[in-house]
Amino acid sequence: MSVQLSNAGVVITGAGGGIGAALARRFAADGARLVLADLDEGVRDVAAELGAHAVVGDAAGEAGVADLIARSRSVLGEIDVYCANAGVAPIGGADSPEDVWASTWEVNVMAHVRAARALLPAWLARGRGHFLATVSAAGLLTTLGSAPYSVTKHGALAFAEWLLVTYKHRGISVQALCPQGVRTRMLDSVGPAGALMLASALTPEFVADVVTDALGGDQFLILPHPEVAQYYATRAADNEHWIAGMNKLQRKLEAAGT
Ligand SMILES: NC(=O)c1ccc[n+]([C@@H]2O[C@H](COP(=O)([O-])OP(=O)(O)OC[C@H]3O[C@@H](n4cnc5c(N)ncnc54)[C@H](O)[C@@H]3O)[C@@H](O)[C@H]2O)c1
Repeated sequence: MSVQLSNAGVVITGAGGGIGAALARRFAADGARLVLADLDEGVRDVAAELGAHAVVGDAAGEAGVADLIARSRSVLGEIDVYCANAGVAPIGGADSPEDVWASTWEVNVMAHVRAARALLPAWLARGRGHFLATVSAAGLLTTLGSAPYSVTKHGALAFAEWLLVTYKHRGISVQALCPQGVRTRMLDSVGPAGALMLASALTPEFVADVVTDALGGDQFLILPHPEVAQYYATRAADNEHWIAGMNKLQRKLEAAGT
């Protein structure tokens, strides 16, 4: 089953810049009708450029998600594609403050849970709906330097997988977008881990093209960096070897003083 973007009603969170804005531009070019959400006021400019509807506000908390979905339905009719793309990537380990752990969990995981909760009754009633979760290669592997990001992206992947396993036979499709570095504000803000990914970093426009080609297809994982499939397989087949390799990388970063 593939997703027809022409005339589809699509919601994208975190669309004020980066991957979300690139998805919006590509989907608009393919004829989608869009609601673009972000905390950042810049989402108004992206929406104006594309003739889309902007919702400025929180797209993670219970009230924010409910409001976004209600407003989207009033603009689009039923939502055909929901892109849970907003994300945060704080640097830090186990010692990250409680409020940082909590807010990362809210945005990277609970935003997806709350959106699915609001979308599912109507999607199940009509036997159709597509949920795109922007996760990260960190959700399949890990990321050096950010425990909250690694843990919550694993959570987001687990939720997306659970959704698909549970509702696939009822017409719900779910895909998890898991890139490594993408040239956005986020990559600039994540310190040594970002620097490590810079050489292979992709443009958000490239990622949006990969997503559009894969949307609604048979692949659960959308991997703009194909090598991630190999890393994931290695992690599963020889976990100790993979952990030793990642720890070596960590020690290299420490030796370099980062
Ligand atoms: N850039 C990368 O290297 C990379 C790699 C893998 C995955 N990702 C994921 O891609 C997604 C998009 O990130 P990006 O790289 O485009 O970075 P970005 O920082 O440009 O975009 C993230 C957007 O999410 C918005 N946002 C954060 N919290 C929000 C909230 N509560 N409500 C509404 N909007 C909120 C931000 O304002 C921002 O515009 C994220 O989920 C990120 O984890 C990024």
